[in-house]
Amino acid sequence: MNDRMSAAGNRSPEAKDAPPAPRHFLDLKDIDAVTLRDILTTAEVCKKHRRDHARPLTGKSVALIFGKPSTRTRVSFEVAIRELGGDPVILLGHEMQLGRGETIADTARVLSRYVDGIMLRTDRARNLYELAQYATVPVINGLTEASHPCQIMADILTFEELRGPIAGAVIAWVGDGNNVARSWIEAAARFRFTLRLATPPELAPPPEVLDWAKAEGARIELVRDPSDAVAGARCVITDTWVSMADTEGESRHNLLAPYRVTERLMAGAAPDALFMHCLPAHRGEEVEAAVIDGHQSVVFQEAENRLHAQKGILAWAFSADEQT
Ligand code: CP
Ligand code: NVA
Repeated sequence: MNDRMSAAGNRSPEAKDAPPAPRHFLDLKDIDAVTLRDILTTAEVCKKHRRDHARPLTGKSVALIFGKPSTRTRVSFEVAIRELGGDPVILLGHEMQLGRGETIADTARVLSRYVDGIMLRTDRARNLYELAQYATVPVINGLTEASHPCQIMADILTFEELRGPIAGAVIAWVGDGNNVARSWIEAAARFRFTLRLATPPELAPPPEVLDWAKAEGARIELVRDPSDAVAGARCVITDTWVSMADTEGESRHNLLAPYRVTERLMAGAAPDALFMHCLPAHRGEEVEAAVIDGHQSVVFQEAENRLHAQKGILAWAFSADEQT
């Protein structure tokens, strides 16, 4: 790794004769704040030097397994791996023997003999953790029903590019307390910002996530009214009302109708507030078109930053085998 991509590589040395444990990127809560900051620094370097940064994945293959649909995650990982010098291997879950009952454990052990890393998108988080348990190569979370850490790394990169350090800022989440919201909660602990969430009580984030955040000293405020969440916030975030793992669409629409992000709601946020959405979006449902297509919206910068943030994650995950 050259000095154009060295920020994420300062790990403690591994024993010389034992293979280093793979560096999995499963959830933000599993990774310390210094490492997450290093990953973002690498992402910034990769963005600034997109055409001539280091290529730490040269000679390496990375399997990208999609058990659910994807546009951004698939393309941004595929391009990131290529631009880092590696080769992506795209695998669609329903075309694999996984879809016919082969176990996750066997899949992990087989793939570890072919490829140097695995990214998984699944609607069963336990499959991700089992894959990581049995794989001898790094495993990266490309979204589960419980979390979406790559997205939040891109979103923090976006916020900081536009508004400076996120530490100490007030960030508002309005809508479903879903997988993306949960990763934002973990991020609040690691990046030291205040996260105010307005969700219907029925769709609040799980207590264990909130308890973890509290134990970490994170500043998390749960409110009922969206206008209380956005008051003075530097960024307002929402997401689809029906995630890929959800089945009960109609009841969710009924519960979430008061949580639509409107121009009127945005007017209660800080004057320079950003609007974020991980996409795909549903205009007229979770957000008014005038907001997502308006001057405060940074959704396409977020989407672009998936590419750069994931380069930081990949460079970190793959730099473990450089330690001596
Ligand atoms: N934001 C996001 O993960 O998008 P995709 O579902 O298109 O990958
Ligand atoms: N919460 C959404 C995010 C999509 C990127 C879902 O899980 O479908």
